[in-house]
Amino acid sequence: MKVALTCNTLPSDYNRESGDDTFAEFDAPSTISAIKKALLKYCAAVEVVEADEGAYERLRRGNFDFAFNIAEGIRGEAREAQIPAMLEMLGIPYTGSGVTTLAITLDKRRTKEVLLANGIPTPRFQLLARPEDLGPDLRFPLFLKPNGEGSSRGITARSLVSSEEELEAVATEMVAKYRQPVLAEEYLTGREFTVGLLGNPPEVLPIVEVSFESLPEGAPRFDCYEVKWIYDSLDAGYDTTVCPARVDDYLRSRIEEVATRTFEALEVRDLCRLDLRLDGDGVPSVFDVNALPGLIPDPAENSRFPKAARAAGYSYEGLIGEIFSSALRRQGISR
Ligand SMILES: Nc1ncnc2c1ncn2[C@@H]1O[C@H](COP(=O)(O)OP(=O)(O)O)[C@@H](O)[C@H]1O
Ligand SMILES: [Mg+2]
Repeated sequence: MKVALTCNTLPSDYNRESGDDTFAEFDAPSTISAIKKALLKYCAAVEVVEADEGAYERLRRGNFDFAFNIAEGIRGEAREAQIPAMLEMLGIPYTGSGVTTLAITLDKRRTKEVLLANGIPTPRFQLLARPEDLGPDLRFPLFLKPNGEGSSRGITARSLVSSEEELEAVATEMVAKYRQPVLAEEYLTGREFTVGLLGNPPEVLPIVEVSFESLPEGAPRFDCYEVKWIYDSLDAGYDTTVCPARVDDYLRSRIEEVATRTFEALEVRDLCRLDLRLDGDGVPSVFDVNALPGLIPDPAENSRFPKAARAAGYSYEGLIGEIFSSALRRQGISR
């Protein structure tokens, strides 16, 4: 079997710590080569296909039987769905969620609408094309983020706002910089967890708590760009993740249940990682679904999905193999 590894590679001179978030969602060459190496245990040939404007031709001429897709896409509101759409047009089956799910999960507002329609708790929200659109229903403090980004792009220490004046200043900047509406959500002060799911129906991997207690005083208590990529980096040496999370059986089963229901409601396939916090009543409330979770191999980098998989007993190669074979099984393909 010949497999295309569809991906977007980080430019070699890109420095995350500069605070430039342009390519925050792309994968490092070391991640791509680790996935390729792992896949070669399970299939005869793997070719890396860069998911840029030339991708369609490369896929069309490549004689591929299958694709392992981690492509984030280079532009457009449904950029994560573009490579899967090309693969479907070419009749090449692939790992992970389909076109509709990838388009919805990149749109935080639409994701929340699906959650609400399925009775899954999510923070109260409003989408703001302009700051002055804010209605009377939401209660401060509010949390602001660009509606269609991931990897903490656009989320800064200033995302947490406690007045209309602050909201106006921050939202105006965000709309101008990211050229899209801003999602205003009620701020949840409870514990934060991220949950990986693997397979169909999914195995819920050991829960990861994202805990901000180890960060220096004055650092934000939420996962903004600075916390995710600068404090929690190899050089700075802070680790904001605890896995398995210290939770009692009752809370664990509530989190597992909400995670599984989210996976089903959004028709996720093979893998995802979702973020939630406990609300004032201790109820898990989901605010982000990552259908293409990061797969950084080096344990020192604290990549959350591989970390949860390790806690469940998967080696990195075992994890990649499980994603691959889940996708094959689901589509009735033998190796
Ligand atoms: N409604 C909220 N209440 C509290 N914290 C939030 C809320 N929304 C986001 N955050 C914080 O911001 C971080 C990033 O937000 P998220 O929606 O997960 O965006 P991204 O797609 O960039 O991961 C979260 O991990 C959390 O720490
Ligand atoms: Mg998130």
